[in-house]
Amino acid sequence: MKYIVLITCMLMAASACRQTETSVASAVQQKNNDATVGYKEEIEPIMESYCNTCHAKVTYISNLSTYQTLKAAADSGVLYERLFIKSDMPPAGNPRPAEKDFQMIKDWIKTGCTP
Ligand code: HEC
Repeated sequence: MKYIVLITCMLMAASACRQTETSVASAVQQKNNDATVGYKEEIEPIMESYCNTCHAKVTYISNLSTYQTLKAAADSGVLYERLFIKSDMPPAGNPRPAEKDFQMIKDWIKTGCTP
């Protein structure tokens, strides 16, 4: 009888453990499926690597290195225009973001510039 109780306890403990693993996995899955593009997580690193070399330091061109200033450029349409219509940013000869980074910026603009 003692053994049956013991085995039952062990089985319960094992299945509780498995349940936690599954919920962690599904939380990760959910995060990966989260379509929202955010400035802090996705956009700022791209801007830092490919744009802010010019757009943060040089005062005679637009400062696009903060959420507010980049959102203003998105709202006015100039960001979209320079990246996807004229396609002249970054200027030729400078390191270019990957296609998926451009797509990320496009999605960010389309979904309303999440901070
Ligand atoms: C080598 C320097 C340099 C880099 C790198 C660069 N830009 Fe620019 N950008 C400029 C200059 C200079 C201007 C202003 C002259 C012009 O409009 O062409 C400008 C203008 C712009 C404008 C128009 C701003 C306005 O108020 O009219 C936008 C939007 C822009 N850049 C976005 C970007 C983005 C996004 C990146 C990164 C993917 C980037 N730029 C990378 C130099 C740069």
